[in-house]
Amino acid sequence: MSHERGKFSSRVGFILAAAGSAVGLGNLVAFPVMASKNGGAAFLLVYLFFIVVICYPVMMAEVAMGRHTQRNPVGAFLKLSGGSRLWHGVGMLAILTPFMIAVFYSVITVWLLVYLRELMFGGLNMLADDASFGEIAARPTTFGYLIFLLVLVFVILLGGVRGGIERLARVLMPTLAVMLVALTIFVLTLENASVGIAYYLVPDFSRMDLAVINGALAQAFFSLSLGMGILITYGSYFSREDSIAGSTRMVAIADTSIAFFAGLLILPAIFAFDPNTNTDDLSTSSVGLIFSFLPKIFLSMEAAVGYFGASIAAIVFFTLVFFAALTSLVSIIEIPISCWIDEFKISRRKAIVVQAVLMAIFTIPATVSLGISDFFTNFTNYGGVSKSFFDLVSDVFYETILPLVGFTVCIFCAWRWKLSGLADELEVGDPNYRGSRLHRYIDLSLGTVIPVVLLVVFLSTVNQIYL
Ligand code: PHE
Repeated sequence: MSHERGKFSSRVGFILAAAGSAVGLGNLVAFPVMASKNGGAAFLLVYLFFIVVICYPVMMAEVAMGRHTQRNPVGAFLKLSGGSRLWHGVGMLAILTPFMIAVFYSVITVWLLVYLRELMFGGLNMLADDASFGEIAARPTTFGYLIFLLVLVFVILLGGVRGGIERLARVLMPTLAVMLVALTIFVLTLENASVGIAYYLVPDFSRMDLAVINGALAQAFFSLSLGMGILITYGSYFSREDSIAGSTRMVAIADTSIAFFAGLLILPAIFAFDPNTNTDDLSTSSVGLIFSFLPKIFLSMEAAVGYFGASIAAIVFFTLVFFAALTSLVSIIEIPISCWIDEFKISRRKAIVVQAVLMAIFTIPATVSLGISDFFTNFTNYGGVSKSFFDLVSDVFYETILPLVGFTVCIFCAWRWKLSGLADELEVGDPNYRGSRLHRYIDLSLGTVIPVVLLVVFLSTVNQIYL
């Protein structure tokens, strides 16, 4: 190959970069919303079960594929399958998915920027109003912010794996964790917070149904950045001296802990502000919940630290959510870029320009589909509901496709690459792996139970959303 492949500087570098990818809006926004809608602790338990039993093995398999082949997802499937067309197609799906996820992820990240600007100009009061979120999402000025965001992301990506991605994550991830814990402690001291804690930690299984279970699995995949070729690509930058099982475990623990804390922050806060919150109302909550509740949490600090102090705290927090989203966005966009570099043998700089143009083409319709353009707002219709372009991308690529890609990864590793090939790779840098309990579990489940569960979830999601 004519160009030098990027590499993480160390095991910690990989863990932070992968955690930087994993920790994002999925943890800080989607997880608390889903937990509040779906029975608090009951959802948490199902989620944890999926992380341990299904996601962790898939995560190891993805990293192993990347490290073994030293390629992006398309190249990895192609190389390991000996050039099969079918698997080439699957690899393409693993590129298309992050590409489209980057589109709707950018739209949400742009809202964070708008919030930050409003906060800096004294708008905390306004943001705490329930009506503000819808109004903000429909503002045409969001375009300016979108351009700013995309420029920022592509400048970081120009810095490469070590100078861009890893350096960003090293600073931001620890800061984010500390801020989140500090804020959670503050909320837990509020009066009535205990009602929310109970709601979060005492399971209510009455809300459990198939849709909730499917949602938990899709959320677990999304949160760990699985099924998107990200870990295949990051695996290709991973050192052969380190243990894949150990490093991915750290990433999964970090990601799940942050999601857990985000729930512990948001749910008690909801009840602290309105002790009479009817949990049935919560079941219709959406992303907007977080975007209007967070400003309320900060506004409540006014009594203690004044309006200015409360605004500063809000600015710091939103900045961190923004950075968590940024590290994720950078990782998502790195996937197609690494594919353009490997498969078309072009320079990183050129690949970035190609990707920037493609991104701009797709993000524009997604941005205007929240009220600015009628055509994109009422873009299509399925499952008996009118859907915007933004909804379509989110339904297809977030809710539906991830388990499918996960399924193909399992089938591929177990039946094409073969479990013995996978085990050989997992043993590199981890002499204790062979014969361990984990090894036996993966041999037993990766070609059988795990793909079956993923396929069932995929089919029932299709049935539920589109039919
Ligand atoms: N895992 C990230 C989150 O939880 C989102 C993400 C998805 C990042 C896909 C990379 C790829 O928000």
